[in-house]
Amino acid sequence: MTLAQSSIDFVLTSPPYCTRIDYTAATRVELAVLGPLLKVRPRELGRQMIGSVQVPNDVIEINESWGPSCASFLAALKRHRSKASAGYYYKTHLDYFDKMARSLDRVSKALKPGGQAVFVIHDSYYKDIHNDLPTILEEMRTRQGLYLSGRQDFHLRSMSDINPGRKTYMRPPGATKSVLCFLKPRLS
Ligand SMILES: C[S@@+](CC[C@H](N)C(=O)[O-])C[C@H]1O[C@@H](n2cnc3c(N)ncnc32)[C@H](O)[C@@H]1O
Repeated sequence: MTLAQSSIDFVLTSPPYCTRIDYTAATRVELAVLGPLLKVRPRELGRQMIGSVQVPNDVIEINESWGPSCASFLAALKRHRSKASAGYYYKTHLDYFDKMARSLDRVSKALKPGGQAVFVIHDSYYKDIHNDLPTILEEMRTRQGLYLSGRQDFHLRSMSDINPGRKTYMRPPGATKSVLCFLKPRLS
């Protein structure tokens, strides 16, 4: 979506949560109805999704602007002993954070000075490594000149707890859903 700079008063969003949900598969009934209107093929649309399960075409490097929590999470994931951690999983997670950072950058630019953005997100685990997405997003946003004006955390049950494979790794049950409120400062 093309948005003019400093044109938006308020953003409320719930972006994909880095939990490997393929939204083109999850919304395939809706996409079947919209099919004739789509300008991209379903596989390409799937590649464009934030949180895509497809390996990106381009080589993506960690960007310093993603912040220290993101860099240490990605380093731990890459070192993980489980199969394909340094390959498939590392590349798809790089893709996730790259798309998220670019999306957040556009939100920051589109907001008017004094405008607010509210993000609903939740954390997750890669095997036994905590993916603290709320903190990662907080660090990304403040590097883009937005100020955190409020944060509220809610501990919830998580569907990933019913996966029998999760017992292979030690990790606490449930997930933390966070509401993050950001403010774009007014020009002085
Ligand atoms: C966590 S869900 C939020 C769903 C939303 N709260 C609702 O009720 O429809 C994330 C949504 O982001 C969408 N999404 C993923 N990648 C996107 C992209 N690149 N551009 C726009 N939306 C995207 C997904 O299709 C999904 O609907």
